[in-house]
Formats: sequence, structure tokens, C-alpha cells
Amino acid sequence: MPAPKILITFYSTYGTNQTVAEKAAAAAEAAGAEVRLRKIPETAPKEVIAGQDAWKAQIERASSIEEVSHDDVKWADGLWLSAPTRFGGQTSQVRAWIDTLGPLWQSGAMINMAVTATTSAQNPNGGVEQTLVNFYTAAMHWGAIIVAPGYGNEVKFADGGNPYGFSMKAEDITEHGNGSIDYQAKRLVEIAGKLAG
Ligand SMILES: Cc1cc2nc3c(=O)[nH]c(=O)nc-3n(C[C@H](O)[C@H](O)[C@H](O)COP(=O)(O)O)c2cc1C
Repeated sequence: MPAPKILITFYSTYGTNQTVAEKAAAAAEAAGAEVRLRKIPETAPKEVIAGQDAWKAQIERASSIEEVSHDDVKWADGLWLSAPTRFGGQTSQVRAWIDTLGPLWQSGAMINMAVTATTSAQNPNGGVEQTLVNFYTAAMHWGAIIVAPGYGNEVKFADGGNPYGFSMKAEDITEHGNGSIDYQAKRLVEIAGKLAG
């Protein structure tokens, strides 16, 4: 069986979700997948970014990572989405990218794609589950297959216990978080591989 093709995408303003995506990429590779790591394009005005040192630093950190393209999505058997929580939902950057996917949806390119998601927030209960549901709602419209971690591994009882997807307080990616990202990535690779046949 060929290696499952896994597209790891992230949007990050301050770095947390890039770190999660990099860990997920390493875990998916270790699980036998062919992996592309891609960032979701920034849409905020340059002058707004220029006013925040931490945001500027993150733009610089992500500069060597390619922006996600439609070809990347067409290529993938499995999709990992990682992005922060904003007022209980996705960031506008993520929504803007999702809203470009109409032609892929129309062509059926995302049907049966395995999809999983992770998020971060300032507070453990700051809306993370709602953000993940927003991702999965889009996945249902694509005809994709949602690969939530559930409680299928003991790591889920130590990582904060979000069965929708790993979520954490921003900048608090713990040892348990690493195990949880590994588990979620391994599961995505396994299901994507089965679906790709
Ligand atoms: C406009 C805005 C809205 C936010 N809304 C929430 C929120 O509703 N709940 C929460 O816990 N954190 C909230 N946060 C904090 C972000 O979730 C946090 O900065 C993010 O998870 C960091 O991820 P990153 O380092 O990948 O950018 C908000 C941040 C911003 C800038």
C-alpha cells in the first residue's frame, strides 16, 4: 500500500499552532505518511502586524513554510487543521482560506478525505470545542470523514481530555500534549490510509 499523503495546515498569530503543526508533521511522518506542512495565508493588514512584535516574529518564523495551495489539497488523502480560537470560532484567516475551497468542493476532490483538527486558546475552556466543531462542520460539507481522537488512547485522559481534537492553553504544549498530538496524527494516517485504499 502506498504511503498515505497527509497535508498538515496551520494558521498561527503567535506561534502555538505552528509548533503543534510541526509536531503533527513529525508524528505523521513517523507513522509512515508522506507529509506536506503548509501555512494558511495571513490576511491581516501589514500595518496591524507591524504594531505587534510577537506577530511580526511569527511571520518571520513561518517565512520558510509554503502557503497551502489547492494542489496540496487535491494531493492529500488526509488533512490536519490547526488554528487558534477567536471568540469561540476560527480566525478570519482560516475562514478566508476555507472560503477559497469552493471549486475543490464542487469537483468532489474532498470527498472521503480524512480530516482532523486541533486548536489553542488563552483559556482551557475559552471556546476550543466550538472552534473544532466549526472545522468539522466544514468537513461535513466537503463530504470528508471526521477523524476525531475520541478517548481511544490513555493520552486523552491526561491531555485535558478534549475528544474533538487536541486543544491547549496557548503556549502550553505539555508532555501530555506531545503524546496526544502523536496519537491524533497516527490515527489520521491510519484512517487516511484505509480510505485511500
Ligand atoms: C481577537 C482575539 C480573540 C480571541 N478570543 C479568544 C477566546 O474567545 N477565548 C480564548 O480563550 N482565547 C482567545 N484568544 C486567544 C487566542 O486563542 C490565542 O492567542 C491563540 O490560541 C494563540 O495561538 P497562536 O499562538 O497559534 O496564535 C483570542 C485572541 C485574539 C487575538
